[in-house]
Amino acid sequence: MSCLPESKIAEPQLTLTDQERGEALVAECMLCHSNKEAQRGPILHGMETWYLIDQLEKFRSGVRGNLASNRSEYLMGIGAKKIQSDYELVYVANWFSEQDPLPAIRTIKGDIEDGQSVYVQRCVSCHGENGEGNRQFVAPSLQRLEGWYFLEQMRKFRSGQRGYHIKDIGGQSMAAASNEISDRTLRNVVAYCIDAFGPEEEISERDRLVPRGARRPF
Ligand code: HEC
Ligand code: HEC
Repeated sequence: MSCLPESKIAEPQLTLTDQERGEALVAECMLCHSNKEAQRGPILHGMETWYLIDQLEKFRSGVRGNLASNRSEYLMGIGAKKIQSDYELVYVANWFSEQDPLPAIRTIKGDIEDGQSVYVQRCVSCHGENGEGNRQFVAPSLQRLEGWYFLEQMRKFRSGQRGYHIKDIGGQSMAAASNEISDRTLRNVVAYCIDAFGPEEEISERDRLVPRGARRPF
C-alpha cells in the first residue's frame, strides 16, 4: 500500500484550542468593555454569570441590540456577532464574572434620601435591600454598575429603547418598573444605589492632576 489514509497525514497546527479562542474573544470584548475608552460599553467585571449569559443570548438572538436608534445597544449587537458558539458565550461570561470588580468615577449627583425612598418603594422587591439582585425574578445585581451606564439604562427602559421586544420578559418588567419616573427622580435613585452599594469610588483623572492643596477652579 502506497498511500496513507488522509487522517494519518500530519496537518500543520492552524486551529486554535478552545481556550485560545476564548482568550482572543475576551480581548475583543475588552476593546469596548474596559475603562480606557471614552465612547464605550459598561464595565462587566464581577457581574453575575447567569445575567451575562442571559444578556449575551438576547444580543445574539436579536432580542436586544437590533434597534438602530439605540446606537450603543446596536454597537453591542455587532459585538455579539463575534461570538461563534455556545462555548465561547459561556467562556466570556465566566471570564468577566470572575474578574474583581473595578472602581468607578462618581458622575451622578442627586438627593440620596429621596433616592432611597423611591428605591424602597419601587425597586427593592426585585433587586433586594443591598442591590444584590434576585435570580428568581431574573433581576440582576446593581452593585457593579457605573453611574453613567445605570442612568442611561433607566432612561432606555423608561422610553422603550430597552425591554421593547415581545420575547424580552425581564426587560418588559423592568420597563414597567421605570415607567413615569421623572429624570430628577431617576438621578436620585441612581445616586442612592451607587452610594449605598455601588462600586468603590475612583478619583477622576482630572482630580488626580490637581496639585495637593490647590483650590478649584484652577
Ligand atoms: C464595538 C464595541 C463592543 C464590543 C466589541 C463588545 N461590546 Fe458589549 N456592549 C457595548 C455597548 C456600547 C454596550 C451597552 C449597550 C447599551 O447601551 O444598551 C454593551 C453591552 C454589553 C452587555 C450588557 C451589560 C448589561 O449590564 O446589561 C454585555 C453582557 C456585553 N456587552 C458583553 C460583551 C462581550 C462578552 C463582548 C465580547 C464578545 C462584547 N460585549 C463586545 C459595546 C461592545
Ligand atoms: C418587577 C421586578 C423589578 C423591579 C420592581 C425593578 N426591576 Fe430592575 N430589573 C428587573 C429585571 C427582570 C431586569 C433584567 C432586565 C433584562 O433582562 O434586560 C432588571 C434590570 C435592571 C437594570 C439593568 C442592569 C444592567 O446591568 O443593565 C437596572 C439598572 C435596574 N434594573 C434598576 C432598577 C431600579 C433602579 C428599579 C426601581 C426604580 C428597578 N430596577 C425595579 C426587575 C425589576
